[in-house]
Amino acid sequence: MSYIVLARKYRPTVFGEVVAQDHVTRTLVNALTADRISHSYLFSGPRGVGKTTTARLLARAVNCTGGGGADPCNQCDNCRAILAGNSLDVLEIDGASNRGIDEIRDLRERVGYAPGTCRYKVYIIDEVHMLTAEAFNALLKTLEEPPSHVIFMFATTAPHKVPPTILSRCQRFDFKAVPTADITGQLERVCKAEDIEIGREVLEMVARKAEGAMRDALSLADQVIAFCDGDYTVERAAQVLGMLDTGLLLELSDLITAGDTLGAMEFADKLVAGGVDLEEFYSELARHYRNLIVFRLGVKDPAALDIPGSRQDDYRRCAEKFELDDLVRSLQLILQFEEIFKFSGQQKISLELLLVRLTMLEKSVNISDLLARLGDAAPAAPGKPVENQLKKKQRGRN
Ligand SMILES: Nc1ncnc2c1ncn2[C@@H]1O[C@H](COP(=O)(O)OP(=O)(O)O)[C@@H](O)[C@H]1O
Ligand SMILES: [Mg+2]
Ligand SMILES: [Zn+2]
Repeated sequence: MSYIVLARKYRPTVFGEVVAQDHVTRTLVNALTADRISHSYLFSGPRGVGKTTTARLLARAVNCTGGGGADPCNQCDNCRAILAGNSLDVLEIDGASNRGIDEIRDLRERVGYAPGTCRYKVYIIDEVHMLTAEAFNALLKTLEEPPSHVIFMFATTAPHKVPPTILSRCQRFDFKAVPTADITGQLERVCKAEDIEIGREVLEMVARKAEGAMRDALSLADQVIAFCDGDYTVERAAQVLGMLDTGLLLELSDLITAGDTLGAMEFADKLVAGGVDLEEFYSELARHYRNLIVFRLGVKDPAALDIPGSRQDDYRRCAEKFELDDLVRSLQLILQFEEIFKFSGQQKISLELLLVRLTMLEKSVNISDLLARLGDAAPAAPGKPVENQLKKKQRGRN
């Protein structure tokens, strides 16, 4: 049997399986239950988040003869024909390649005929924003007085390019990018169903790389499965995904808090030897410091951060080792380096310089530590530097 890609194999078949779009599915289920079906829907949102999936689900739900609930039964003749893509009553049109007036005129003529075996004739027009102005005009006429047996479902990644006259005639649903944690959860379910054991950390990496698109996450999982061939280590996954292992950044942070300048130089060697893209590393480093600052500020809901769940404790521990002032100054230094780094013909050397400077940043003094130390010492003991630092720090607070 040939391999079916995960994104196809795991396309949701009932509303409850559509992940992280509850605001859409709940409304649709309610409408179906009350038999209040609109004649034109617009599904907008980024790619790979469930627009086409939901349109096909809805097309089956309105035409299902299986009875029971809002979900399609996926067994009756109508459901099966629509699932197989050969129902004559549910037509998918790609707006990008059928943009013109002729195609829409053709559609308008066909709209008049009653459906064959289904209750509704459904037209799913994908990337509807690609239609020409004339085509939209022609479509508008049909939308103004749609025959009662017709439902239009438009999908678009660019709703702002759809004329307001069309928008105002549709019931609109905005799909959201799928949060990383929800993608990870879905990847876990899929791996379980496939009987493949991939660690949570790797799945989180895949989820982060997908940047909100479930389809991308599943395609990346296909790649990881093919490439790693049973050996799903973070290192191998990072390699195939072209991503940086968060562990590397935590390792570097330890070198920086320890002021280990030589270690930082060796770390740069290790990056180059491991084939890490230095520009990618540089931008991840800035993000890393930003995350540490957020942690240091005591963020309430770490799940809202773009940090893998399995790494959050490591992050918390790491952040605790830094003073907030130092993190802020370090991030400032990193950002100041951007120009030098981007335009340097010597990327490795400029990265080394940055890492060295980070390890050599003068550390802020933690006031309470200092006071404790002052209390322990004899009255005359504090040397000048400490006094100056304390003054500097207090000035900074005012
Ligand atoms: N919200 C989601 N929940 C579960 N799977 C999803 C979701 N969105 C996308 N997918 C997966 O990605 C594939 C493509 O989704 P699709 O609905 O075609 O995305 P688009 O929004 O680009 O139309 C689906 O077959 C499914 O495997
Ligand atoms: Mg689609
Ligand atoms: Zn059915």
